[in-house]
Amino acid sequence: MRQLFPLPADDVDPAPLYRDSRPTVGDRPYVVVNMVTSIDGATAVGGVTAKLGGPGDQRIFFLLRSLADVILVGAQTVRTEGYGPPRLTPQAVEARLERDQPALPTIAVVSRSLDFDWSSPLFSDPKTRPILLTVGSADSEGMSRARDRAEVLIAGERSVDLALGLRQLRARGVALVLCEGGPTLNAALADAGVLDELCLTVAPLLVGDGGPARIMGDHPLDPPLEPSLLHVLEEDRFLFLRYRLERAEWR
Ligand SMILES: NC(=O)c1ccc[n+]([C@@H]2O[C@H](COP(=O)([O-])OP(=O)(O)OC[C@H]3O[C@@H](n4cnc5c(N)ncnc54)[C@H](OP(=O)(O)O)[C@@H]3O)[C@@H](O)[C@H]2O)c1
Repeated sequence: MRQLFPLPADDVDPAPLYRDSRPTVGDRPYVVVNMVTSIDGATAVGGVTAKLGGPGDQRIFFLLRSLADVILVGAQTVRTEGYGPPRLTPQAVEARLERDQPALPTIAVVSRSLDFDWSSPLFSDPKTRPILLTVGSADSEGMSRARDRAEVLIAGERSVDLALGLRQLRARGVALVLCEGGPTLNAALADAGVLDELCLTVAPLLVGDGGPARIMGDHPLDPPLEPSLLHVLEEDRFLFLRYRLERAEWR
């Protein structure tokens, strides 16, 4: 991998570039979003991300996972991408234990419907019990299944109040949240003013109609975010961009 910005450099190891200090923000964790897109902005091809990724993207995907306390993900991404329990290499687990983190990050799924395949691996491994971030008005049968298979956090009545949900995670000691999308959840986090960083892989593909939404969903962000570029890396025509996100009124 080579660095193009801020300074050109060949053969860089991305790990130290992503292993940065990310302080908590008031009473909530720091929130990083990691996404992959085609050059023309598609976030999925044929409904899934598989055709957008590549080895470098996978490296950064797992690098970010290895740093996170919680992996936050929208229910539709869990359903379409077939999310399972988190897995890391033994080296990554060892490094986490040395940093006094749990061996693996916890997956936290945001859902109103609680409509899941409860027999899927994500909800079947008692060693990696996920969190479900949901609403008080959720269907009672779904809620009872959810409580059997996951730790349930209620944040809001009809819609998940993401700022409140993040504060609940912080109260449990969570300092770094990695959001893995999808676009609907990203947009809701942006609307709530709780996004701190965007890691974006631009895949060397033009796909035309690649799906319904771009990385921040399909409604306008008002005002738009004006991210600051932290670095640009390149490998095999893929670009790896890292931005800090903030609006003046957020802090
Ligand atoms: N390119 C990438 O890096 C990337 C990353 C992730 C996903 N994707 C793609 O994106 C697509 C899925 O994204 P998506 O935007 O359709 O869905 P999504 O963001 O993954 O999930 C949306 C769902 O999350 C729940 N949700 C989100 N915000 C909520 C809130 N504030 N309150 C209550 N529930 C909330 C709802 O779940 P319920 O329906 O259960 O109520 C909602 O239907 C897939 O095609 C996937 O392959 C791409």
